[in-house]
Amino acid sequence: MQKCLICDSGVNEFMDFGRMPLGNGFLDQSQFTDEYFYNLKVGFCSRCTMVQLLEQPAREQMFHDHYAYISSISSRMSEHFKSFAHTIMDKYLIEPDPLVVEIGSNDGIMLQHFAAAGIRHLGVEPSTNVAKLAGAKGIETVCEFFDERLAETIKGNKGQADAILAANVMCHIPYLHSVAAGISRLLKPKGVLIFEDPYLADILEITSYDQIYDEHVFYFSLSSVQYLFGVHGMEVIDIMPQNVHGGSMRYTVARKGAFGISPDVGEQLLKEEHLGLKRDTTYHHFREKVEMSKNRLMTLLLALRNKGRRVVGYGATSKSTTVMNYCGITPDHIEYISDTTHTKQGKFTPGMHIPVKHYKEFCEHYPDVALLFAWNHGEEIMNKEKMFQDGGGRWLVYVPQVKIL
Ligand code: SAH
Ligand code: TMP
Ligand code: ZN
Repeated sequence: MQKCLICDSGVNEFMDFGRMPLGNGFLDQSQFTDEYFYNLKVGFCSRCTMVQLLEQPAREQMFHDHYAYISSISSRMSEHFKSFAHTIMDKYLIEPDPLVVEIGSNDGIMLQHFAAAGIRHLGVEPSTNVAKLAGAKGIETVCEFFDERLAETIKGNKGQADAILAANVMCHIPYLHSVAAGISRLLKPKGVLIFEDPYLADILEITSYDQIYDEHVFYFSLSSVQYLFGVHGMEVIDIMPQNVHGGSMRYTVARKGAFGISPDVGEQLLKEEHLGLKRDTTYHHFREKVEMSKNRLMTLLLALRNKGRRVVGYGATSKSTTVMNYCGITPDHIEYISDTTHTKQGKFTPGMHIPVKHYKEFCEHYPDVALLFAWNHGEEIMNKEKMFQDGGGRWLVYVPQVKIL
């Protein structure tokens, strides 16, 4: 039995998605023959309640000089991080000359607001290409992986931080004890860590199994986050659900006793009990729903193909790699995937090798059906694509249910 990355006891596997390429491993034809694969399996630790991957590629395999995900592509997420930044400024930066550190700052989508306000800041971003984009916007960025050692270096160079921020990155880091220990050293006595990630209860509720891929090593609940930081003399003092990425949770963490604890924390822990997040059977039920979702999606795709409909994918998301490889979606089912990210255009999807094309291809020659892989940006996309719908185009979605809209 695999050991839990958080508490060292045994992890119960509940789902095996089989052989999987990297979620963000978009590639050229010349790279097809030596494409990297690993086994995508996920399990639950009943001791500390952490849901986690049982195997993960090395970090350098995922985060490097050609990392494909560029945060500022989505206007919805840009708005989200603007509001996140202003919440921090208003609520937590009360001492003079504060310092804000962000882990996984990508192209500076959030830190740009602190830079614009003249606030001392530092981004930590190991993927060189996206770190450079932030640098070009005048955002101070160190191009390294955050861990306890780097936290010490930052503390030596800049002093302690008033706020440490992280979005969609804590769940990427298997060595979380080193990260939590580093955060505890780097924070001022009254400093706070505020981070958000996709929330386990939402993943289970809407069967968004495509959140499960190599980069997401953890699927957090409040109870698992509380366990982790408890080991490092910290505690969750507040939570706030977020309506992004299909349902995320924002956690505010501080040193034990530094602040009062919001009543929302206790209430959410109770909710998690009622939702069965601590029971093995909950995860087995999830697996059954995933299998059903796969069957329905493939039945629909086959029916569309038999009717001679043109189907294309919309949004070459990292999440879609799990869906395509687990369900067996090939270039026979979808012609290509449209994506606005220049690092993905002209490449092929990991594993199934479906071409990723420029968005103009989609606009110039609308398909009959668009399979919405970027469902988490659904509202933004459907508003933008009124012409496609008005011309008779239909959306095929698979979260929360497989359906043609
Ligand atoms: N915060 C952004 C980016 C999320 S993608 C957003 O929400 O849009 C995750 C980012 O974390 C990537 O840019 C990746 O390079 C970075 N990352 C991965 N491991 C990291 C680590 N140990 N320390 C800091 N950043 C890391
Ligand atoms: P994400 O789900 O990980 O945020 O990735 C979204 C992907 O979808 C990213 O590759 C950009 C792409 N995309 C589009 O092609 N068009 C859009 O309008 C939006 C919002 C995203
Ligand atoms: Zn555990």
